[in-house]
Amino acid sequence: MGKTRVCLQVGANLLERFADGVWFVEFAPIGDPELVTSAIATTLSVRLPGQGDPLAELVESLKTQEMLLLFDNCEHSSERRPRRRRRSCAVVRK
Ligand SMILES: Nc1ncnc2c1ncn2[C@@H]1O[C@H](COP(=O)(O)OP(=O)(O)O)[C@@H](O)[C@H]1O
Ligand SMILES: [Mg+2]
Repeated sequence: MGKTRVCLQVGANLLERFADGVWFVEFAPIGDPELVTSAIATTLSVRLPGQGDPLAELVESLKTQEMLLLFDNCEHSSERRPRRRRRSCAVVRK
């Protein structure tokens, strides 16, 4: 209990440390792991070229950004794709 609340508070506390902001991505409505990448892109208003792997395109478009991505309720969306979840976490550290 309190995970979302803690997440939002941590984001608020760290806002000034990230030049490109702190972003909260809500995965609760998403059941299909394939939609995780587009949910992040939509939240960030990033338009993906749509020619290659969506996650690779997202990472490419964010790699010069200094931002914190907070993912809420992402366990369900990624439980069938543990490898993809780890790769997604690399985006958070960018
Ligand atoms: N430290 C706290 N003190 C009082 N109420 C809290 C605290 N943390 C969370 N809550 C309340 O408990 C409920 C669940 O919190 P939430 O952050 O949504 O939990 P979770 O994301 O783990 O399901 C919310 O109504 C929230 O306002
Ligand atoms: Mg929650």
